[in-house]
Amino acid sequence: MSVIKDKFGRPLQDLRISVTDRCNFRCRYCMPREMFGKDFTFMPRKQLLSFEEIERIAKIFVQMGVRKIRLTGGEPLLRKDLPVLIEKLASIPELEDVALTTNASLLERMAWELKAAGLNRVNVSLDAIDDAVFAEINDSSYKTNTVLRGIDKAQEVGLGVKVNMVVKKGMNDNQVIPMATYFKERGITLRFIEFMDVGTTNAWDFSQVITKKELYDELSKHFSLEAVNSAYVGEVAKRYRYTGSATEVGFITSVSESFCSSCTRARIAADGKLYTCLFASDGLDLRSILRSETDDEAIRSAVVCAWQKRDDRYSDERTEETAKNRKKIEMSYIGG
Ligand code: GTP
Ligand code: 5AD
Ligand code: SF4
Ligand code: SF4
Repeated sequence: MSVIKDKFGRPLQDLRISVTDRCNFRCRYCMPREMFGKDFTFMPRKQLLSFEEIERIAKIFVQMGVRKIRLTGGEPLLRKDLPVLIEKLASIPELEDVALTTNASLLERMAWELKAAGLNRVNVSLDAIDDAVFAEINDSSYKTNTVLRGIDKAQEVGLGVKVNMVVKKGMNDNQVIPMATYFKERGITLRFIEFMDVGTTNAWDFSQVITKKELYDELSKHFSLEAVNSAYVGEVAKRYRYTGSATEVGFITSVSESFCSSCTRARIAADGKLYTCLFASDGLDLRSILRSETDDEAIRSAVVCAWQKRDDRYSDERTEETAKNRKKIEMSYIGG
């Protein structure tokens, strides 16, 4: 198998597949209710890739060198019968890692079934531990306890668990230490994500970003940290551990220290569009190729072609101007 590389020599190694554009939260930085209200039209069912179609695509990507597949959304656990898809993916022999990114609102009741289907691990999105702050962020009636119970259950059934916290100035800065304290005590890796200008609805600007340096300085007032080497080339998070323990914290620094030079990720939206960057403005319609071609080779060569002409490095190039004026796809559609 020859490795397929893009214009900057980056191989295609990870695939993120969004299985739905729907979510039961309305995080103000992702799906603000004013935009994603009752009248919003989500993707009709027949536009979604079926599980058989996703499996077919996954196998083609695995043949091309992908070893890690992450399911995203929207909220992936809202997709009916998701464990059936996980079982199909987990049985692809060369695939080493099947993971899921979730808000965990449905995790407690689904964890066992997900594990039994072959899921390896979950990354749980949680931006606050305090209910009032949590409610203010996600504009829903869920309580943090539901998410925390989901995390406990996932651990109990043997899934790997990490927590992702988007930090935005004025939104949840006061939750950084409480979150770190809570997850440190439980030995769970917490990763702080710098607020990014994804999509067009979150009114992003640089002044709302709390950088890794600021977060690190704040954490250092309370905890002693030491650096941990990356597990593999292209790992998104910069990793640290609490001195003297095996528990880690990480920072996802798309804004202050971009990591495009080692970005090996492709994304497929729930309708089958292939994107070579989280900030892409357009994608390749794999679904129509899939539905018109019986030969996998046609799909393979379309993907190879898209990857070989890939020159995305948005986070390296980000300015106030690109953040405001560039056409970008919403996070709930492309998958985080
Ligand atoms: P691990 O496999 O556990 O390391 O997870 P991951 O970091 O690949 O996936 P996860 O869904 O947990 O990603 C966390 C967040 O990192 C995403 O939601 C994005 O906010 C950010 N992120 C992940 N990949 C990219 C990327 O390619 N570009 C940018 N700019 N941000 C990314
Ligand atoms: N900036 C950073 N992270 C974001 N996420 C959603 N929108 C943004 C943004 N604008 C995160 C979610 C979740 C992951 C899928 O992406 O909180 O952890
Ligand atoms: Fe849903 Fe995640 Fe977006 Fe929040 S950030 S609205 S939980 S997809
Ligand atoms: Fe990859 Fe695009 Fe993110 Fe850069 S901005 S790391 S190219 S997805």
